[in-house]
Amino acid sequence: METTTRELKVRPGPGREYPILIGNGILRKLPEHIRRISGSCRVLVVTDKNVGRFHLKPVMKNLSGAGIDAEAEELPVGERYKNFGSYQKIVRRLAGLDDARDLIVVAFGGGVVGDLAGFAAATYRRGIPLIQAPTTLLACVDSSVGGKTGFDLPQGKNLVGSFYQPNLVLIDLDTLKTLPAHEFQSGMAEVIKYGLILDERFFARLEREIVMLPAHDSAPLAAAVERCCAIKAKVVGRDERDTKGVRAMLNFGHTFAHAIEAACGYATYSHGEAVAVGMICAAELSARSGYLKSNDLERIERLIEKAGLPNKIKGSTADELIEYMQRDKKTRTGKLRFILLERIGRAFVSDAPPLKDIRAVLKKRIVSF
Ligand code: NAD
Ligand code: GLY
Repeated sequence: METTTRELKVRPGPGREYPILIGNGILRKLPEHIRRISGSCRVLVVTDKNVGRFHLKPVMKNLSGAGIDAEAEELPVGERYKNFGSYQKIVRRLAGLDDARDLIVVAFGGGVVGDLAGFAAATYRRGIPLIQAPTTLLACVDSSVGGKTGFDLPQGKNLVGSFYQPNLVLIDLDTLKTLPAHEFQSGMAEVIKYGLILDERFFARLEREIVMLPAHDSAPLAAAVERCCAIKAKVVGRDERDTKGVRAMLNFGHTFAHAIEAACGYATYSHGEAVAVGMICAAELSARSGYLKSNDLERIERLIEKAGLPNKIKGSTADELIEYMQRDKKTRTGKLRFILLERIGRAFVSDAPPLKDIRAVLKKRIVSF
């Protein structure tokens, strides 16, 4: 079904801007968008085997039908393939396609594909045009917008990377209909995050509409994705390179979440589930630190529960989680920082509150088997 296309602009810096298009069935217009970037080009569509199985055939057929010379690179699935080997595969494939014409990369998949293909586009011939066509809810509302690209090393996540903005973000909500329910739910944590950090009205809307989001052709889903992208675009416009403490707010709940994911061996919680529990912990820490009111804290817990996301930590202890946070601190900024809430819709960056408060917050959430 084709519905109205919603359009937003990202303005990451002076004189630079690119559109985000959101709608159902709009992937069909991919050839027109490619032609607008270059009249004479070869295209590499990068995807993974899951997305490829469901969606690649019509995309490639559409491109060849429009006379566009396109090939596809299907990567293996999952975070463990967000690595140097996959990056090499993409750039080698680009080298094989390279002739006198322009080269364009289409990143067609979730955040893993988007980050890898984005980094390949950023670095091949010092930068070639890139279209982000996200297919997970997380990628629609977060990773496809804002230009963070890269891959993981055995020593840590996203250690190799760059900021490289796409020419276009093309969000076809119809692709989400094949997304497994737990992946959709994972993205929902990030959707809630936007309301919490910067938009109380959006949060209130989610309280009413969250159960309607999983319908891929629903107006509430399109509106929610648009609102999240608008907030992300605004944040990126103010702090593209994550140096001013504005983009850092997007990491609300993530200090807890990274520790939960690591301590529980990455198997118990998906990233979105860990973010959900992490956001509750961060909200509770905000309340203990004298900022957030108890009524707001209860609203946050209720919405996360309504979204079907977890609110408890199983399989770790407070001391273990604190140790993971300290370790993360050493490998990253050298300083343990938290994003706290003054109220729903207003977040700020804070130095770490007293350890006893962090421990108390964790203890309240931990359940033993
Ligand atoms: P993902 O790309 O691994 O996709 C999740 C799963 O869904 C995979 O199994 C994938 O094959 C499958 N899938 C994707 N689209 C599908 C579809 N339409 N139908 C059926 N299956 C589909 O994971 P993700 O959650 O999209 O992204 C996580 C990654 O994003 C992480 O590597 C994270 O670091 C990165 N990330 C980047 C940014 C950024 O700003 N660049 C922001 C947030 C997260
Ligand atoms: N998802 C974090 C960022 O884009 O900065």
